[in-house]
Amino acid sequence: MKAVAIKAFGGPEGLSVVDLPDPEPGSGQVRIAVEAVGVGGVDVLIRSGTLSAFGFREGLVPGSEVAGTVVAVGPDTDRSWIGQRVWAFTGLGGGYAEQAIAAVEDVVPLPPGLSPAGSVTLGSSGVVAHFGLAHAHFRRGESVLVRGAAGSIGILTVRLAAHGGASAVAVTTSSAERGELLRKVGATHVLDRSGAGDGLAAYDVIIDVVAGPELPSFLGRLRPNGRLVAVGAVAGPPPADVGTALMANFRKSLTFATFSADTVPPAERRTVRVEQFAAAAAGQLPIVIHDKLPLDDAVVAHQKMDAGEVFGRIVLTP
Ligand SMILES: NC(=O)c1ccc[n+]([C@@H]2O[C@H](COP(=O)([O-])OP(=O)(O)OC[C@H]3O[C@@H](n4cnc5c(N)ncnc54)[C@H](OP(=O)(O)O)[C@@H]3O)[C@@H](O)[C@H]2O)c1
Repeated sequence: MKAVAIKAFGGPEGLSVVDLPDPEPGSGQVRIAVEAVGVGGVDVLIRSGTLSAFGFREGLVPGSEVAGTVVAVGPDTDRSWIGQRVWAFTGLGGGYAEQAIAAVEDVVPLPPGLSPAGSVTLGSSGVVAHFGLAHAHFRRGESVLVRGAAGSIGILTVRLAAHGGASAVAVTTSSAERGELLRKVGATHVLDRSGAGDGLAAYDVIIDVVAGPELPSFLGRLRPNGRLVAVGAVAGPPPADVGTALMANFRKSLTFATFSADTVPPAERRTVRVEQFAAAAAGQLPIVIHDKLPLDDAVVAHQKMDAGEVFGRIVLTP
């Protein structure tokens, strides 16, 4: 089969089309003929080598989110999966390929009305948005700031916070045009990347996709008892003095937390995905596809990601 592997950490040119044997599903796994692959911010971090401390190695086929048709199952695995159109989480990689393997617990049937391309904008990001807000103990009537709102996680967080009864949903983004698109999914206030603009003085909850050197300055934008949850790090890790910024606001009883969907039990992730897929099929959740490109153009997809021109998700189509 055709796949795309990271030949060398660094820029997009380190990605290369390769021929690999079809992967064999093990017990409890399925093999999917892939029709759509979601290109996420995490793929960029893996390709650049930023996450090598987490065990990602050169030679890896990136891609953690695919959709297509189940064509084979492993030993002792329910054969009724064969022929089903599904979305799947492929784990630490293996998605940028014509065939991918996933564990049954991470496979969700696509409802009528949700395309494979649509599902890979939603399956991982929607879970992060849902459980990230829950991790922040977000409640109806509270104000929310979504930092780095223009990606899939941010867009879905904006919509879920708005539908969940937030009193205000502010966003940081790099252009007025993006701000207008975010207003369409539920943003009420649009700020620049530094947080400047026509926003509130402070927020109950900040969901932060960006992290990086500016993260401590956002702790100062929390209301008393406010919670900032870092769900991503597209600008890299925060500086070492996050704790100093937290202690400087000691009398506001702030919380700084990280959130990874890895800590959500698979059955809970699945329940939320099934609900979100049904909502998306009914037009109640936004599906924002920036571009669809053939798998051969994975380098182009990553160049677009690096150039910061992607709003929503790029989808690769093997
Ligand atoms: N918590 C979890 O379980 C989980 C699961 C999957 C992925 N992730 C993480 O989520 C992140 C990717 O999320 P995503 O795909 O939604 O994001 P994304 O599309 O890669 O980026 C989101 C937005 O952040 C803004 N941005 C980019 N670089 C920035 C910078 N240096 N400073 C300020 N803003 C910047 C950009 O918008 P503007 O240009 O409009 O500002 C961009 O559109 C990764 O860090 C990944 O590791 C977490």
